[in-house]
Amino acid sequence: MNEKLAFRFAEVTEAAALAGYQWLGRGNKNEADGAAVAAMREQLNDMPIDGEIVIGEGEIDEAPMLYIGERIGMGGDIVEIAVDPIEGTRMTAMGQSNAITVLAAGEKDCFLRAPDMYMEKLVVGPKAKGMIDLNLSLMDNLQRIADVLEKPLANLTVVTLAKPRHDHLIESLYQQGVRVFAIPDGDVAASILTCIEQSDVDVMYCIGGAPEGVVSAAVVRALGGDMQARLLPRDQVKGSSVENQQIAATEIHRCQMQGLEVNQVLTLSQLVSSDRVIFSATGITQGDLLRGIWRDGQGRLNTETLVVDGITKVQRRIQSVHMASREL
Ligand code: FBP
Repeated sequence: MNEKLAFRFAEVTEAAALAGYQWLGRGNKNEADGAAVAAMREQLNDMPIDGEIVIGEGEIDEAPMLYIGERIGMGGDIVEIAVDPIEGTRMTAMGQSNAITVLAAGEKDCFLRAPDMYMEKLVVGPKAKGMIDLNLSLMDNLQRIADVLEKPLANLTVVTLAKPRHDHLIESLYQQGVRVFAIPDGDVAASILTCIEQSDVDVMYCIGGAPEGVVSAAVVRALGGDMQARLLPRDQVKGSSVENQQIAATEIHRCQMQGLEVNQVLTLSQLVSSDRVIFSATGITQGDLLRGIWRDGQGRLNTETLVVDGITKVQRRIQSVHMASREL
């Protein structure tokens, strides 16, 4: 894959962020997501690639755009693409921080074909690469990470999602003296922060979306960090109601069709099998990783985008000034 495409992918996430921004604080996450999806698709279709969406908005029958298997681009390099047009739809709709738009592109067959289900994820930065093992308890992992980072457990910072399923875990981490940042949504940005030198975040652990997990794996690999994951059926995460058991049966079947097993530990190279990856994320709302969209003195919208090239390992932060647009 041609690394010159990196700038084009940056334009794709910028366009999606600007489209989602129109719906900022309007209480409508579906409209926000729909606008970002449409903008992202339009940009991708304008690129010189022979692309396929492998992580997207769902199956063809449930997603009219950017569905799994959709072909995009005008022809050119063969690339597969994993997208999350808005990672933080609720944050965008409610005007809360840390919403971003993300995309990862790679060579053929490099991304795990994860169904849209839950995934347990453990992520660390480059200094703790090789030290994680999801077969061990989380506390054992945290001790190993603390040891290699040469800091006491009390100085380790773990980010997780503030979801009821994590209440017990968060409480027990507090009791063992670990510092926990529990964020409402957005584990992709939190995963990236483990790999950013200036960030306080050492570990990201949560049960969140599997598609978000694959996108995170792409950028974590590109940034030299490490990640392990496990696909979890819905009844294990949300309780074993009849409905959840039915959904779980479908998820298990989907996994089998892809040659995957639930509850089995997946390593970083099983999640993303190549370094030949380009990742782009643009901030929508103000966040710890990226600045959200802001209006300058002349009324123009500004965006900040992080682009990472998995081969050269170059990280770019691109600040773009967009033409004044009153309706935004
Ligand atoms: P979306 O905004 O794309 O819906 O994702 C937000 C998010 O918090 C992800 O970061 C996370 O992986 C997932 O949702 C968790 O799912 P749930 O809200 O079902 O717990």
